[in-house]
Amino acid sequence: MADTRTATLIIDGKSYDLPMRSPTAGPDVVDIGKLYAQAGVFTHDPGFTSTSSCDSSITFIDGDKGELLHRGYPIDQLAEKSHFLEVCYLLLYGELPSSTELETFEHTITHHTMIHEQMHNFFRGFRRDAHPMATMVGVVGAMSAFYHDSTDVNDPRQREIASHRLIAKMPTIAAMAYKYSIGQPFVYPRNDIDYAANFLRMCFAVPAEEYKVDPVLARAMDRIFTLHADHEQNASTSTVRLASSSGANPFACIAAGIACLWGPAHGGANQACLEMLREIGSTNRIPEFIERAKDKNDPFRLMGFGHRVYKNFDPRAKVMKQSADEVLDLLGIENNPTLQVAKELERIALEDEYFIEKKLYPNVDFYSGIILDAMGFPTSMFTPIFAVARTVGWVSQWKEMIADPALKIGRPRQLYTGATTRDYVEIENR
Ligand code: ACO
Repeated sequence: MADTRTATLIIDGKSYDLPMRSPTAGPDVVDIGKLYAQAGVFTHDPGFTSTSSCDSSITFIDGDKGELLHRGYPIDQLAEKSHFLEVCYLLLYGELPSSTELETFEHTITHHTMIHEQMHNFFRGFRRDAHPMATMVGVVGAMSAFYHDSTDVNDPRQREIASHRLIAKMPTIAAMAYKYSIGQPFVYPRNDIDYAANFLRMCFAVPAEEYKVDPVLARAMDRIFTLHADHEQNASTSTVRLASSSGANPFACIAAGIACLWGPAHGGANQACLEMLREIGSTNRIPEFIERAKDKNDPFRLMGFGHRVYKNFDPRAKVMKQSADEVLDLLGIENNPTLQVAKELERIALEDEYFIEKKLYPNVDFYSGIILDAMGFPTSMFTPIFAVARTVGWVSQWKEMIADPALKIGRPRQLYTGATTRDYVEIENR
């Protein structure tokens, strides 16, 4: 049934009735799409803290409850019972697959993991010490130069092929960026092992000897991918949507998402968090860092703490903490000082008035770095791994947006604070 409610806005004594809409879950929205035409005013919301930017049926977050749903399914159930490629299918197509659908999807993804051989030369153009995220932004953007047959966004079949290519090739590209940065030969993907195991193999195998992927590590890797797969309209996803709203090709748009993800306030936080935990070094230095985080005159923040949407535990952080224990246990890393610092820091911060009052809880990045470090990844690979996982989220949101008949180019307005019209002054008179 159509929503007939309205919200009334009064400006200078004149009232405007704005239509309201109800979502299936979450806060109602006031539709201000025609406000400028009717009242000649803009709304102002830098950082989009009160603004819904699109209709979407993919992911739902209740930040107060600490709930994350993909197509209605809670993330903790997916992390426990499902696996990454099944979650990819769910995000892309809206429903859990039948066994035949899953088999076909896994076959398609697995058989598209190699990248165009000529792209190897492209890698070699980068400096060896380039951050793997810098390499990924470039290489993923360059996919539009290699896969012309899937850049027409108006063709649903091409959109599907581009989606599969991006999901399938991203681990290969991330692993190659890593191998290049350490001067080792690229390792080709294999079709007889699963997505997460393949990624670990491409990162850690060398041609000189056999490499067998530990199934517990592969499962932990798969879980990290699952937990990062999508997160509704976050900064990088909104970047992908905005870039795509002009009709730009998907490879260029996902490269834009990777660039946004790189920042320390977003995907770069897991690298920054592990570096912070190492800098703290031992539990007796924690109070000093807590004081710094609370000091208004110190820009330092507790990395891995706080979230724009979650004002309760990030449900992904709970699963990640459990995975950290399992992986360190498997690897026989007892008394890991970084894990000890993390656990004690979490305990102290959760009891501290400042963090309680501001509702700052550990986010997904707080424990993921510890697992990745234990697996042997350098911190520079943490954000590329996040990019591998989030690719399906970006692609699903992009597909949803392009298929929406109401699609318009994204074009925010502004509150102008500059000079008003003035006449040009000749240089000798300035
Ligand atoms: N440590 C100390 N204080 C913090 C922290 C923190 N990690 N996070 C927020 N605060 C304080 C702010 O100083 C601010 O205080 P004020 O009200 O006195 O000015 C208040 O809490 C609100 O913070 P904002 O920055 O306004 O909140 P916002 O929603 O814009 O930021 C963000 C969210 C960017 C995640 C922030 O909490 C942060 O910088 N955290 C550390 C980085 C991090 O872990 N990022 C990962 C996010 S999850 C992800 O991308 C997967």
